Amino acid sequence: MSSATVRIAPSLLSVDFARLTEELAMIEAGGADWLHIDVMDGCFVPNLTFGAKVIETCRRASRLPLDVHLMVVEPEKYLESFAGAGASVLTIHAEAAPHLHRQVTRIKELGCQAGVALNPATSLEGVRDVAADLDLLLVMTVNPGFGGQAFIPASLDKIRRARALLDAVTSRALLEVDGGVTRDTIAACWRAGADTFVAGNAIFAAADPRAEVGALRARCAESA
Ligand code: DX5
Ligand code: ZN
Repeated sequence: MSSATVRIAPSLLSVDFARLTEELAMIEAGGADWLHIDVMDGCFVPNLTFGAKVIETCRRASRLPLDVHLMVVEPEKYLESFAGAGASVLTIHAEAAPHLHRQVTRIKELGCQAGVALNPATSLEGVRDVAADLDLLLVMTVNPGFGGQAFIPASLDKIRRARALLDAVTSRALLEVDGGVTRDTIAACWRAGADTFVAGNAIFAAADPRAEVGALRARCAESA
């Protein structure tokens, strides 16, 4: 298990956009650590979402670090504009970036933290040789594209192996999980070695989203 602190990153995908400012203020008041922003291009994943304009809007509407998850082909096309829009972390998918080392270096040059994401079917081997350079490794716990999907149970073993890989190369990267994170799944992910938890539906569909941020964090503390 990681000795790190728990980070909770509510996902913008599940926000009621008619109430964007209020919802962002609510999760911030609830103790959220980051705001997770899912950029989807309708090509890498079968859905379309946000671009630089929305990142910039969130930058003005919230003080939280912006954790930007690029589910797009050719992510290198967007790094500069997203960094300029206020992204704190830029996470690209290994499946969409054959020149991963170059893109990770570029993200850092732009002043952002660099993350790499892996789909459920993608082996950890593809990130082994850049693991020491990463600020974040994202293990997808659903097939990306939509909020509100069920957590894939086999992900737990992958999280354990990801933790071991990061420890083996003494990487200081955070280990993030994304998809189907709820009160029922978060503690097992924490015990497996994850420290950063994206949650969309679990937070914004809760009766009290503000309290849900703390409730998710508490599940990890209880299981420690
Ligand atoms: C899924 C996205 C997630 C999504 C998670 O492709 O990457 O960030 O918002 O949503 P939940 O927590 O509802 O599974
Ligand atoms: Zn995401």
